[in-house]
This record gives sequence, C-alpha cells and structure tokens, in this order.
Amino acid sequence: MAEPRIRYGGDYNPEQWPPSVWAEDAHLMQEAGVNLVSLGVFAWSWLEPQPGRYDFAWLDQVLDLLHAHGVQVALATATASPPPWLSHLYPESLPVTAEGIRLAPGSRQHYCPQSTAYRNAAAALVRRLAERYGRHPALALWHINNEYGCHVRECFCEQCAAAFRRWLQARYGSLDALNSAWGTAFWSQRYGDWAEILPPCRAPTAGNPSQLLDWRRFCSASLQECFALERAILRELTPGVPATTNFIGFHRPLDYWAWAETVDVVANDSYPDPADPEAHVGAALTHDLMRSLRAGQPWLLMEQAPDYVQWREHNLAKPPGLMRLWSYQALARGADGLMFFQWRASRAGAEQFHSAMLPHGGTETRTWREVRALGRELANLAELAGTRVRGEVAMLYDWESRWALELEGRPSRHLRALEQLRACYTPLYARNIAVDLLRPGAALDGYRLVILPSLFLMREELGPQLARFVAAGGVLLVTCFSGIVDANNQVWAGGSLGSLRALLGLRATEIAPIPLGEQRSIRTADGHAFSCAVWAEVLELEGASAIASYAAGDYAGQAAATRYAYGAGAAYYLGTMLDAGGMQWLLETVRIESGLTPPLTAPNGVEACWRHGPGASYLFLLNHTTGAVEVPLDSPAPDLLGDRVPRRSVRLAPRGVAILRYLPLDHQPAA
Ligand code: GAL
Repeated sequence: MAEPRIRYGGDYNPEQWPPSVWAEDAHLMQEAGVNLVSLGVFAWSWLEPQPGRYDFAWLDQVLDLLHAHGVQVALATATASPPPWLSHLYPESLPVTAEGIRLAPGSRQHYCPQSTAYRNAAAALVRRLAERYGRHPALALWHINNEYGCHVRECFCEQCAAAFRRWLQARYGSLDALNSAWGTAFWSQRYGDWAEILPPCRAPTAGNPSQLLDWRRFCSASLQECFALERAILRELTPGVPATTNFIGFHRPLDYWAWAETVDVVANDSYPDPADPEAHVGAALTHDLMRSLRAGQPWLLMEQAPDYVQWREHNLAKPPGLMRLWSYQALARGADGLMFFQWRASRAGAEQFHSAMLPHGGTETRTWREVRALGRELANLAELAGTRVRGEVAMLYDWESRWALELEGRPSRHLRALEQLRACYTPLYARNIAVDLLRPGAALDGYRLVILPSLFLMREELGPQLARFVAAGGVLLVTCFSGIVDANNQVWAGGSLGSLRALLGLRATEIAPIPLGEQRSIRTADGHAFSCAVWAEVLELEGASAIASYAAGDYAGQAAATRYAYGAGAAYYLGTMLDAGGMQWLLETVRIESGLTPPLTAPNGVEACWRHGPGASYLFLLNHTTGAVEVPLDSPAPDLLGDRVPRRSVRLAPRGVAILRYLPLDHQPAA
C-alpha cells in the first residue's frame, strides 16, 4: 500500500452483474481514474456455492481484467455475510439477542462471533483465497470481513456464554477476584462457581455495572478474535500483503484503540448526513480519530456515498460539489485514499436505492461526471500521499470510559461521551486548530494543550502523568464527571475526580443536575454572560480560582469553571455544560494560554488544515458555505487545484477547495 499516489475507487461487486458488464466496468474505472477497488465483499455464496465446493473461475477473470486496466484490488475475505447453507446446516451459528431470540438469515452479518461452524468455514475460505490470489499482481490489500459489529455487536448464545466465562477466568484468575471487581456483595450477586456466570441477558432491572463493562470489553474482543483468525492465515500465507478491515468512525461497540494495533492501515467508512448543516464538523472529528488511531499514519477512506444513501428515514442527495468537498476534507485530515460504496448501483437487493459511482442512469448523470472529475484531479495529487498532519491539541478519548458512562443508573442519561467530546472539539475546529485523539495513557510529548472531555473512567496512573504534563508548562482542561470510576467501574474512594484533585485544586462534592429544559446563567470573571444546562456540580475550591460562576439560583456565586496554576502550567475544570458561546469562550481561554495560533484568519465556514511532507507543506482550504469567499494568505502560494500562480489571496467558489503548496524557505525560487 506504500504507493506514491492517492487511492481512488470503491466497492466492486461483479457477482451482481453478467460478465458482459465487467469489461465496461474496467473501461469506465480507467476513465474515472479508479486505481483500487474493494472486491467481492459479500461474495461468499458465489465463492463457495456449496459447503467445501469453491468456484473461483469468475474471480480469476475479474482480477485479471482489473489488472489489465491498471486497477489494483483490496480483496475481500467475504466473511461478513455467510451463505444460506451455513445457517441451514448449523443453525447454532446464528446470533442470539439478549431476549434469547435467534436472529434469522436473510440480510447480512448473521453469525455468532464464537460459532465454531462459522469460524471454521470462514477460515477455510480465507485460506483458499490467500492460496489462490496471494501472488496475484493486482492484489494490494486484504479487506477482512466488513464493518465488524455494524449490525450484530453481541450474541447471548451458549457458546458466547462459555467464551465469556473463559475470558473472565483469564482476566481475574479466581472467583474471589471477580467477586471483588464486580462488587457482588450488592444485591446478593456473589458467585460460587464459574458456571453460574452468564452474559447480561434480559433481566428484571438494571444489571451490575462492572459485569456490563466487562461484557462490552468481551464483545469487542470476541469480534476481534474473528478478525485475528483471518489475519493470522493471511499473514502466514501472504506475509507481505497488508491487511485491514473497515471501521465505522466512533462506533460504540468496538474499542478501535485495541483494533488499530492489529491492522496495517486504518480504513474507515464515513457517511455524514447531507441534511445536517454541521455534518462536516462531526466528519472532521471522525477523520481526526482515524488519523490518530495509528499515531498519524495515513489512513484510507474505504467507503463514503457518492450521493444519497438509502438507510435513513429520509435520504437527501449530496448537492453539486459536496461529494468533492467532503472527499478533500478526508484528504486534508490525513487520508491517502478515497473510496465509495459502491462502484455500480445495484438493481436488486436491500441497497437498490443507495447511490453509486456509476448510477442506474449510467454515465449521463451528474454523479458520474463528478466522480470522474474527482478521479482525474486526484491523479495529479500524488505528491500528497504519505504527507502527515500534526495535531497540536490532544483530546483523550476512551471506549471503555464511554461504555462505563453510558450505562443505566447514572445521574443523567443526557451526559454522553461523544457529545462532550464534540462540545470541546467544535470551538477548536472553528479556529482551525489541529486536534489529535489520544488513548488515555499515551505519551503527551509535543502537545501544549490536553483535554479530557468527561473522562468518567480513569486509571490511577493518568493523574500523575497529567500532573507532570502541567507542571512542565502544559495546559489541561478537564470537563464534568471525569475521574469518577476505576477500571472495574467502581467509584474511586474519597470522592470524585480521583487522582486529579490535587492537580485541579478542587473537589467536586455534589452532583446537582439541572432540570431538563432549564437554562442557568453563568457569569465569567472577565465579564461575559453565558448559560448552562443539564449538568452541574458543586465545587469546593482547594486552591483553584473560579473563572466562571453561577449567576442565580441555589448555587449563585459558586464556581462553574476554574483555573489552577500548577507548576509551570495551568489546569482548568468545567463542572457544567456550557452553551456554544460559553464553550467558545472557554476553549479560546485555554487556547490562548497554551500559545496555539490558528494557521490563518479564515472566514466563517472555511476549514484550514496543514499536511506536511519532506519536500513541501500543503494548506488545504475548504469552503463549507454556499457562497464564494476570499481568503487572505500570509504568504502567496500556488493552488494545486486551480491557479498555479502564487497570489496574496485565494478565491474559493461555493463548496470550493484549494490546496496551497508551500516549499520550505530554502527550496523557494529566488524572487
Ligand atoms: C456500509 C457497508 C456497505 C454498505 C454501505 C451503505 O455500512 O459497509 O456494505 O451497506 O454501508 O451505506
């Protein structure tokens, strides 16, 4: 995959079409600048029409044809949708819900991750594919399975129950350790035999939070075992070929920090809603996560929609220019490839009304023209491949903490991990400050600002690490309900904020949620007024000073946000949920204190991102508005997508994009 070019293409499902269409596909791919397709993602029943009887003749033909047209292949292992014969022969391979209902085949992803029948059949298929195509010149990448956990994230069958028990035995070693970690003294849940332990099936009321957290961990790991099984076969037979599986952004069920360690390249599927005027902010955050999962390594946008999808209640089309704009946004944030679901629109099946690069209407369509134009543009941008984005702010994000926070039995269901993350991210995005996402515990070197948005579950070591960071001059922002529970989902002894208390110079002594729908006013020490809602904490200051306080009500005059000078740096705490203006004020405060400056003064709605390479740096400018804008530049540079003559400002058309190339000073031609 270390190709010096931008990858471009989509899912290709030739089994849906007669061979007469394949030649046209290959020809049109060439015309559109397609250089990589994800092949045969759901082709299992065509590759193995009967148990153990494989048919590769059609795939041989397709691979050769693609190769002859210069199109490389991310070959799918096709294990995401088992053929009907598998569940017919082995009904126990179907997943079971928490209510005990066995799901039927007839759509996709109808397999239990622990099913021996499924795993054996999947392994056999992968082995055959690797033996047959491992040396095919078109093969560039293995695409393992597809969107693990997209539809079925957990299974409650007997095999899963047994696997859960084995997983717990390995984790805890003894029942005493498990009983203590799960706090089973509560509600008479003490286990005396491993066989008594079950997955958290449908029960009379709320389950045990420690058990539920372990169940989430187990379910992520259980699906990851399926991935690892295939990965091991591919590594054995095709050691030089990289492998990936497509992630789904911040997908809740899977701990992608753990998963990312085992893929060679991060691949993601991104479907922002064209109906959402702020969709690009969420997309930016997700792209930043993908770049961060493997420490800045370029990633692959494996799927996006060329136009509309079919799975929302009401599916808007992407207006002219939006597909191009959102494609460049992914590139700006570190992607080295842009792919779509799918190449040719299906006539049959559940996704008949999903857009494709080649729509039902063929080449006489706007979508096709935009797809082709983008492919041609990308062909001239090879120099961007391998260049990197450098984040200046670290935001700590953790699946385990999110799982623990979003269980039943919390003070409010309206405190959600991603919303808190996004509330901190949005003002930085608006100022074009580059943000990396970090797994708690990762090294903080090189960052000047670290943010913990409602990091509910905190391991003990994090406090001292953050204290060292701040003492050495860093700026830290922690937001409400952080540092509440340990890795077992048990509340830290001694009250909230765990090991952060000394660093923040305060204690949160009470949680006092605000009635839903009510806004409370806040006054800042520097004279601004904002409102807050949903969540409030009573803060007892132990050295910190209030930078914002409640202006009225029972808590009038008490601190809502604080600052504490600690060593050479400062630690901030926010004990409520501020409105958008308030978050802007707070993030500006910490940004300025940490000395971070925006890359340029961009008009509202213009996103600016840098990618850096050995020979040049590239400033992407993305106009998310529907009007033309003029962006003044600090120093003139050529636009790789437009005017190659360096100018003092760039004019961006509605939804327009520019990529400005800056050479290092010593490479600049003499004036
Ligand atoms: C993805 C999936 C694709 C296709 C697409 C439609 O989640 O991986 O196979 O279903 O959605 O948007």
